[in-house]
Formats: sequence, C-alpha cells, structure tokens
Amino acid sequence: MSALSSRHLMVIQDLTKADILTVLDAARSFKEVNERPLKKLPTLRGRTVVNLFLEPSTRTRTSFELAAKRLSADGINFTASASATTKGESLVDTAQTLDAMGCDMVVIRHAFAGSPQMLARNMRAHIVNGGDGKHQHPTQALLDLFTIRERFGHFEGLKVAIVGDIAHSRVFGSLAPALRLLGAEVTAVAPPTLLPARPALLGAEVSHSLDAGLGGYDVVYMLRIQLERIERAPFPTLREYARLYGIGLERLARLKEGAVIMHPGPVNRGVELSSEAVDAARNLLLYQVNAGVAVRMALMYLLLGGDKDGIAA
Ligand code: CP
Repeated sequence: MSALSSRHLMVIQDLTKADILTVLDAARSFKEVNERPLKKLPTLRGRTVVNLFLEPSTRTRTSFELAAKRLSADGINFTASASATTKGESLVDTAQTLDAMGCDMVVIRHAFAGSPQMLARNMRAHIVNGGDGKHQHPTQALLDLFTIRERFGHFEGLKVAIVGDIAHSRVFGSLAPALRLLGAEVTAVAPPTLLPARPALLGAEVSHSLDAGLGGYDVVYMLRIQLERIERAPFPTLREYARLYGIGLERLARLKEGAVIMHPGPVNRGVELSSEAVDAARNLLLYQVNAGVAVRMALMYLLLGGDKDGIAA
C-alpha cells in the first residue's frame, strides 16, 4: 500500500502535483517531531528499510538512515565496499537476495541510470532512488521544494536559476521538472560545454551568463561541479569557472532582496561558492540538509502505507 500514486519513487515524475504537496505537508509534521527532545515515533515498527548505497554519499545515506530510525523501522546499510557486489554479484542477484529476506523498502544509490527500475523489476519492495548516475535524484528535489516552500510559501511565478553543471546533474534532472509542475520559472545557467547536446530538450530557459539575470532570481541554485563525471575539461580552469559562474561577496550583494542561495552539497568551496557565500545568511544549504531528514521520513511513511492524517502528534 502507498498513500501516493506510485508505490516507488524512481523518478520525480512518479509523483503527481498533489503527491508532491502531500509529501511536503507530511514533512512539515515530521520536521516538528525532529525539533522535539525525543525524536522517535513507533510508526514503522516491524518494517525493514535497506539503504543500498553503491556510490559515496554523506547527506542522502545518513538522512535515510536517521529517517528509518526515527520512525522505528529496522534499517540495514550496505555500502559498495561492504556488499557482495565487490565479489561480482549482479544488481539483479542482490535485489533477489534482499527480497528473499523480506525487506519492505530499498533506497538505492548507484552510478548507473536506471538501477532503481532494475530493482523494481526484480523485487517486491518499494524502491526509492537515492541518486542514479546523471539521471535523477528525486528525494533531493523534494527536500529542495520543501525548503523553497517554507521560505516563500508558494512556487507559482518564482524565478529559479539552476547554475552550473547541468549536463551531468541528476539534481537538475529531478528538480527542474518538479519546479515547472508547481508553477515556477526555471532558467538553466551554464556555459555551452556544461549543457546537454540539445539544451532545448531541458524544458527550461537557457542562459550562458549568470550576471545577466542575477538581480531577478528568487532562488539561485548552485550545482556542484562534478569533477568525477567530467571526461574532458569543459572550462579552462576552476578559477575561470568560479569567476564566471561562482557566487562570492560581489554577486551576493547583487542578489534581489529576499533571494536565497541553495546547493545540494557537497560544496566545492571557492568554485561554486566562496567561503563567504557558504556562510551567508541567505544560503539555505544547512536548512536543506535538516529538511532532508523530515522529507525522507514523510516519503517512507507515505510509501509504506501511512496516510497524512495518521501522523502521530
Ligand atoms: N546532495 C547529496 O546527494 O549529497 P550526498 O552525495 O552527500 O548524499
């Protein structure tokens, strides 16, 4: 059973607009729980959630782990080095092994786009995508949407610039369509070398200049330069990239009043953001991290059969 339209969250398109708003509303209740001295609820007692993280992660893995613990689910954590994939076991065999043990949900992070769908075809558990290659990172999008709604109260008409490594970004892959679905205007800001071959298919305005629209954006969402996914140097030096597309004191001062900076983390300090911009009051980076636990609690709760009205007070 799932209180959402889909029993999995593999791509953001699995959720309708109503589903997204249901998750954000539930996350607000769980955020209140997370602010209490005793943060634990009995809601998912007896359910088993497996974190199958076959690529590095700090924020996503830890927050799923915390979310499971706070809902009293049994959480099991696999990392690449601790799983039998290092001995050559295939993803399908791993899926069937986990299924045989009767787990209820698998959260997967994997370098290959489509790995969540492969799991879903081979097991009965609910599958949640914790980031698949360059494809999608839907729970990151949900926590970003939560952060934006808490700050602005709405999405309609908000001008959001997503800046940087669009071509390699699973964050963009989930966040941009969700923002558009909710009525925000998305501009992809990047040099031509960090855009896909056919930028028209992004479904967003495209700009090669951060400075051109800087004073008009409500949200400036800085993507991490993914050095590990870049095959050929798309810009002369990181310093050159920072000069044209990074946020430092000078660009901070030119943001619109009330505008915010966001970043999914981890930050390359001095590249996407200067240290001053990381620490700036209008940078919501740590708010995003905090929201990530509540949003993942909400998602787990709703996918595993809870409904919004049933959240324990
Ligand atoms: N934002 C994000 O996915 O961070 P991690 O790689 O640390 O999970």
